Amino acid sequence: MGRMSAATPPTERRVSARVGAISESATLAVDAKAKALKAAGRPVIGFGAGEPDFPTPDYIVEAAIEACKNPKFHRYTPAGGLPELKAAIAAKTLRDSGLEVDASQILVTNGGKQAIYEAFAAILDPGDEVIVPAPYWTTYPESIRLAGGVPVEVVADETTGYRVTVEQLEAARTEKTKVVLFVSPSNPTGAVYGEQETEAIGRWAVEHGLWVMTDEIYEHLVYGDASAVSLPAVLPELRDKCIVVNGVAKTYAMTGWRVGWIIGPKDVVKAATNLQSHATSNVSNVAQAAALAAVSGDLVAVEKMREAFDRRRKTIVRMLNEIDGVVCPEPEARSTPTRRSRRWSARRSGAGGPRTRSSWPR
Ligand SMILES: Cc1ncc(COP(=O)(O)O)c(C=O)c1O
Repeated sequence: MGRMSAATPPTERRVSARVGAISESATLAVDAKAKALKAAGRPVIGFGAGEPDFPTPDYIVEAAIEACKNPKFHRYTPAGGLPELKAAIAAKTLRDSGLEVDASQILVTNGGKQAIYEAFAAILDPGDEVIVPAPYWTTYPESIRLAGGVPVEVVADETTGYRVTVEQLEAARTEKTKVVLFVSPSNPTGAVYGEQETEAIGRWAVEHGLWVMTDEIYEHLVYGDASAVSLPAVLPELRDKCIVVNGVAKTYAMTGWRVGWIIGPKDVVKAATNLQSHATSNVSNVAQAAALAAVSGDLVAVEKMREAFDRRRKTIVRMLNEIDGVVCPEPEARSTPTRRSRRWSARRSGAGGPRTRSSWPR
């Protein structure tokens, strides 16, 4: 029998168990493969990553160019985000969700992914369970595990339009459940919860003292009569235990710029900010300046992009239905408009005023 090298005792772990257990982002792996095939001249259309194929609007790029020239941005800035960006995120949240928040409840992160990890890390202790509606985007369970938590899947299928019900959530709840993840519009299913369903899930969480982490990153990419509602705006009672994740990646075609944010109760945001201050200092100032231009601007560019996506999805459904034996439901047949959704569509097209104001506990 050969001898082990003296430098590597058999029991020594080179990679920690915690990080060694994390698998590669399946989304990024599929995306890299699609991009490589495309570069090699193959006719590939990638459906892996949620990445708009439009360039970032010019006025946002211009703001970044200006920021590059400003020596103020060549230095460290506050770890939790540029104060002017936080103020603009608060204004955007009021405009789009009807939710009034204070700058102290916002942490600017390197994209939604970091926001998700830091939010879980800020509230989970080892063994805490997080209910994760499935099908899910692959980062959620890995972030939960990395933060010491245990993801618990609840599968929603076509019978409920890929939306979980309170009954399903209740069946998965144990005494270790601490958080429920709520993603609407959902990646990967595209399911959008109506206002009543959203409120019912929030009420159930309040009743059992659970936290909700709600990922709103696809808020503006909705189709037909569907409309995304913001859980803490719908249910003020939940706000003390609700963390919103959002970012500029999808709305403004800014996946590569890496700016996202967390909105939540002050104590949790402070804890997540402390964590981030040791992991990264500030998010790139140039990217934050670009994000500032994005969130302070209007939604005209996103509306144009959304219309293009809408045409494409209708074309795909039509083409699928042309294949023998394939029956794909018409997209519009899946959603029921709500009062709020009609207001939302009006705002997207520039009509209608801001949402009803509703403030977050400070
Ligand atoms: C549902 C969802 N949330 C968050 C993100 C993270 O976005 P980013 O880290 O690019 O800001 C993604 C990216 O694909 C996503 O699909």
